[in-house]
Amino acid sequence: RISPVLLCGGSGTRLWPLSRKSYPKQFSRLLGDETLFQAAARRLTSTVNDLSFAAPTVLTNSDFRFIVTEQLSEIGIDPGAILIEPLARNTAPAVLAAAFHLVAQDEDAIMLVAPSDHVVPDKETFHAAIKSGLEAVEAGQLVTFGITPDRPETGYGYLDLVAKPDGSGKPIKLNRFVEKPAAADAVAMLSAGRFLWNAGIFLFAAKDIIAAFETHAPDMIAPVKAALDEATPDLGFLRLAPAPWEVIEDDSVDYAVMEKARNLSVVPFTGAWSDLGGWDAVWREMGPDIDGVATAGEATAIHCKDTLLRSETDSQQIVGIGLENIMAVAMPDAVLVADMSRAQDVKMAVAALKAKG
Ligand code: GDD
Ligand code: MG
Repeated sequence: RISPVLLCGGSGTRLWPLSRKSYPKQFSRLLGDETLFQAAARRLTSTVNDLSFAAPTVLTNSDFRFIVTEQLSEIGIDPGAILIEPLARNTAPAVLAAAFHLVAQDEDAIMLVAPSDHVVPDKETFHAAIKSGLEAVEAGQLVTFGITPDRPETGYGYLDLVAKPDGSGKPIKLNRFVEKPAAADAVAMLSAGRFLWNAGIFLFAAKDIIAAFETHAPDMIAPVKAALDEATPDLGFLRLAPAPWEVIEDDSVDYAVMEKARNLSVVPFTGAWSDLGGWDAVWREMGPDIDGVATAGEATAIHCKDTLLRSETDSQQIVGIGLENIMAVAMPDAVLVADMSRAQDVKMAVAALKAKG
């Protein structure tokens, strides 16, 4: 049995103005009827390829706790536990807290750590990849899932494989893990042909990831343990203790552990995958028509090309005429209009508005 660990504490600023500090993208219905978080939870409940999953452990912050319970109950999933982080300290302490929580119940617990803002439509392939990864987990490996890169993306982690994938889907050992490389390094890794992108999904035994933290991020052990030991149960939530949590340094599991660990393996993942890291990715996933136009809500495109128009309200019409490479997203209180090539810069809007106060 695998224990899913769902991370949903991020703020998703690149999908402003839909994604807000109080209601980030993972809880929105960006594509289809379910929210990204609901889809992530459902992917890790159903039994496909004889995998069986325990009830999920959810890590989030206090602001999102009722969104989490409401969205899970809407799809009939009972969480095993919902751990509330007093402050966002990125994914490293969140993963470690989940590991301590699970290992206390079962010393051989196996965790599947999953972000809640990805699109992975092909459940069968996903479950087959997880199943294949279990073999490496039994050998004490920390398993990542690798995506074939098609551009020198600098927002992802890169996996340096000891050998090129042979198509068998078996785990392959890693030389090293490079998180968010500089642009020139990304170009070099893409042309080397031996690298895959880190999908951001991890599979390992709880005790092995704890051991990896002990070696590579030892300062995190005591405060995370204390935050869990002193946690207070609150209406079905488990609130981690703020005092020890506050002293923890902000770090992602990728930088804190994965870049340093030597016992890494990757399972090449051949199914479709997108991390919806910007409006251009959403546009792509929406399936634009032959002119490259995708619309949602009360939106009309006239003679447009390669354009995204979304109205996220019932009352707001949005009409584009003669646009090319434009994305426009209307909310009741904010409208974004940007060049499609600047999708990654949308986080600048959030920063600019914050600076204005
Ligand atoms: N609980 C909790 N607490 N969750 C968090 C926190 C936190 O403090 N910070 C981020 N998360 C959640 C996000 O909501 C998301 O679901 C997941 O953790 C990953 O965080 P991101 O901030 O989206 O990471 P990233 O996209 O920059 O990079 C990661 O994912 C890439 C693929 O999408 C890395 O693992 C990269 O190596 C990888 O390529
Ligand atoms: Mg992400």
